[in-house]
Amino acid sequence: MFYVRYFSTLLLILLWSANDAHNFSLFDIRIDHWKINTRRDLVINTPKPRFSWKIHALDDILHRNIQQIAYQIQIYSVKLTQQDELYQWDSERIISSQSIHVAYTGHHDLLHSTFYRFRLRVWINNSVVACKWIEWIQFRTAIFNLHEYIINNTDLLWIGSTEINMNELRKEFNVSNASPVKSAIVYLSGLGYYEFYLNGNNVDPSRKLDPGWTTYEKRTLLVSFDLTANISVGMNAIGVKLGNGWYSQEQHGKETYSPPRLIFTLSILFENGDQMQVLSDQTWLGREGSIKHDSVYNGEIYDRRSDRLNWTRPAFNDSRSAWITPESLKSPINDTSVGLLVLQDMPPIRAGSDALHTEVMIDSLEYGYLNHKDLGNIKGASFADGGIIKPVDMWISDSGVQTFDLGQNIVGWCRLKFQGPSGFGTYIRHAEILVQPVVSTNHATHNLNTENLRNATASDMYILRGDRLGEVYEPSFTIHGFRYLSVFGAPNYLTTDNVECLVVHSETTLKGHFTTSNPIINQIQHNIQWGQLSNLMSVPTDCPQRDERRGWLGDAALSVDEALYNFDLIKFYLNFLNLIVDMQLPNGAIPDIVPGGGGIYPADPNWGAALPKITWQLYRHYGDRQILEDYYDHVRAYIENVRSGYNDTGLKNLFWRYGDWLPPSPFPRTNEHLTSSFAFLHNVYILLNMSQILEKKHDTDIYSLFYQQLAEEFHHVFFNTTSNYYADGMQAAQVLALALPGVVPPTIRNVVLNYLVNNINLNGNHATTGIVSMAQLYPVLSDNGYHDLALEMISLTTYPSYGYMFTNPYENATTLWELLNAPFLGPMSSRNHIMYGSIGAWFYAHLAGIDLSSEFITIRPRMASEIKKHLMTKLDCQLSTLYGLVRIAYTRDERDTLPNSILLRITIPPNTRARIIFEPLFVGGQCEKLIESDTVIWALDNTTIINHQKIEIEKNVATNLMNAYIESGQYEFQALWI
Ligand SMILES: *[C@@H]1O[C@H](CO)[C@@H](O)[C@H](O)[C@H]1NC(C)=O
Ligand SMILES: *[C@@H]1O[C@H](CO)[C@@H](O)[C@H](O)[C@H]1NC(C)=O
Ligand SMILES: *[C@@H]1O[C@H](CO)[C@@H](O)[C@H](O)[C@H]1NC(C)=O
Repeated sequence: MFYVRYFSTLLLILLWSANDAHNFSLFDIRIDHWKINTRRDLVINTPKPRFSWKIHALDDILHRNIQQIAYQIQIYSVKLTQQDELYQWDSERIISSQSIHVAYTGHHDLLHSTFYRFRLRVWINNSVVACKWIEWIQFRTAIFNLHEYIINNTDLLWIGSTEINMNELRKEFNVSNASPVKSAIVYLSGLGYYEFYLNGNNVDPSRKLDPGWTTYEKRTLLVSFDLTANISVGMNAIGVKLGNGWYSQEQHGKETYSPPRLIFTLSILFENGDQMQVLSDQTWLGREGSIKHDSVYNGEIYDRRSDRLNWTRPAFNDSRSAWITPESLKSPINDTSVGLLVLQDMPPIRAGSDALHTEVMIDSLEYGYLNHKDLGNIKGASFADGGIIKPVDMWISDSGVQTFDLGQNIVGWCRLKFQGPSGFGTYIRHAEILVQPVVSTNHATHNLNTENLRNATASDMYILRGDRLGEVYEPSFTIHGFRYLSVFGAPNYLTTDNVECLVVHSETTLKGHFTTSNPIINQIQHNIQWGQLSNLMSVPTDCPQRDERRGWLGDAALSVDEALYNFDLIKFYLNFLNLIVDMQLPNGAIPDIVPGGGGIYPADPNWGAALPKITWQLYRHYGDRQILEDYYDHVRAYIENVRSGYNDTGLKNLFWRYGDWLPPSPFPRTNEHLTSSFAFLHNVYILLNMSQILEKKHDTDIYSLFYQQLAEEFHHVFFNTTSNYYADGMQAAQVLALALPGVVPPTIRNVVLNYLVNNINLNGNHATTGIVSMAQLYPVLSDNGYHDLALEMISLTTYPSYGYMFTNPYENATTLWELLNAPFLGPMSSRNHIMYGSIGAWFYAHLAGIDLSSEFITIRPRMASEIKKHLMTKLDCQLSTLYGLVRIAYTRDERDTLPNSILLRITIPPNTRARIIFEPLFVGGQCEKLIESDTVIWALDNTTIINHQKIEIEKNVATNLMNAYIESGQYEFQALWI
């Protein structure tokens, strides 16, 4: 059956096989980590970019073992003016299997502000001819030293107003050169937020809440646009709207922040070599536009009557509003020796379908063994809806308020269509929850509960202009985290057709898809993915709705592994690492919140862990050693800072601030010194690994010794020899000790494990852990022989558990709660926190069992034992890697004539190899037979071993694990256990 679907492809292949160069091609090309097929204007901010590509084999079954043996890259500069010299570089055929992070090695560095084109092709094994060249790809380089460029240009001003709410600025300019425009490049920044218009059009309409949030006095981001195709001969007009964003004093409490300000430079180059510039200066004009007030937390007040049509077009004439000359304001970088103006080198925040790309097949069940019935009825929206959500329910309460339920907790806003008289004011409120439990059918009193938003009003006010055909409002400079919205005093009854909501987050690509036969796990996965997207707002945030939404490092550290399995976020996190490093003190200390000045120094060690952990996880997920090199010194300095505190206190009294934050009531928090010690050891261990990879032998020696010393001290200080458990006997303390390599001596490992498991059993299999130990609990159980228990725990729906979030009488959570007992508490109870999302990494790393961090892709799906197999009989997981899609699908006992068997379908992308590890399906089980595509490839009785398709089998006699080493391609294994 498996082959039937491929029959047509198969025929094609046979017809084409005469020329095997056609059987593979290249796709998903990346330069400097930018995924080129998602960029309209590819701006490279380095003179030495690196390239990655993926090889596509037309048919994976016939074409196993596709390995690259050589590649060739060509680059040439695009000659814009007659004076330009043509630069050409050809790598020629380089014998190498490397297809990711391939360095540009031209005879000189790429020049700044230059257009280039490149193309590449590869050769694979078993083929004498290369694949076809990819089409030429154009990119341009940035002004590499943007900071100096701006400082140099003394005519370039930050403009705005301290007198009026100047949030619309405009400038007309004449392009009169006889020679054609060859390039027109803009660099701009508008703090807190901006929208950029040229000649009547928003230059990039789905780009929102730009530029990214930073500690502005340390680093302010500028964005570059290529307007070459948009500039007209004759008069042109620029319009920029400004919002307060995080530069607002109201929100940030910083006196030096606010009011909004703009810096803008446009450089036009003509074919004859002439140049012209348009700069932000006092020849611009500004006024207060239609936005009367805007705040990230408190929403927007918008008066449509103040719109001036055509204000961003040339020859605009406005007799009704006061356009005045802007002031020259201070640069946000008030001290140029500590602050930098730099290019925003990560994808922007976007709204709707432009925000999320995908490299996985969201609805495809064909490959796996799952069907829709297995998946369960997942509550909430689907990524297939393209980031646009329509209400699933609407009602009118007694007080006449119209309320909409989106069926999904989202972050963004809604487009609402109103129709009514001019001057009519409408108030729009947002909330995550209702005052009445959702199960109540009495809609009359079904109003929003905004208690948990604390001081964020999360409300927009819209004043109509009175258009006869109706008018559509959507906010520009605020963002809400909500599932429900209520509209007060609308002039018209809104149908659900008048409401359309946009999902807003940093632009990213969905790269993981994980489904199983366990509906509880599927719903948790749904809630993790939506929760994670909700907290990607140019920085990783803790929550998106209340008066907080900060870059808490603890939350970032806990979620990064999960986030990198689910989404492509390399540039996002590299930017964040820079923001962390911006705040690092000379003594190595970092604060617990980044960006902004609100963080406290030094961070609790589990919060500070974000710096080593993000660095390390980026390396593991992307295999990019450069990242370790770039941040090594910062990681080391940070760890040395914790060490200096440790030198005074020892582990016994190691500094802490939050400990194992928020264990479920009524369980107490475990020993906080132990929790901090866990982070310290964990971070030293990461540093040790980093030093090994970077071959810093001196550091490896020092930190190996130090780690051993700490491991012994940890045990010595926290192990209670009378009761045979760690610290206070909480689950958390045992989990954290067991999670650290070499801490629990082998002789008592089982004692500690048994104690932990007993404690879990005594609590009805519930975890009593806080956020730090929760991230370790499931991996510890799965790695130490208690995978069945871990599966039982994750399948629970009673309090406290993940499943309780969507199986309780009060609400069906579609994202993750901050508190496991959320419904009972008021103001401190976000419904969209990402910290518990850490478990998502266990889904990929243990349930599907994918590990990308070694020379092979390792795939070791952990198996429930035969008696607990109902908890997970089927799984289907896709993970898009830099080589292509890894896919794993299994089912237990699919072919019932063969009990105790597993069917495992695997796809391994070209240019990689994998090690598949088969686990016994019951304690003491021995593999009887391994079958691949209906051929026996290994048998216990040794009779029928066939060296089939170069699959190498190795049995681990001690563990009974079966290892299969395979080349790229598609496989269908069957393992039978006796
Ligand atoms: C800034 O000015 C200095 C001195 O004139 C010059 O050497 C340097 O190249 C300029 N930098 C940039 C980025 O334009
Ligand atoms: C706005 O510009 C468009 C296109 O140039 C023109 O047709 C229209 O009349 C203008 N409207 C106003 C109110 O100026
Ligand atoms: C720059 O701004 C920061 C943050 O607002 C402030 O702490 C610092 O004193 C300022 N520095 C100068 C040189 O004005």
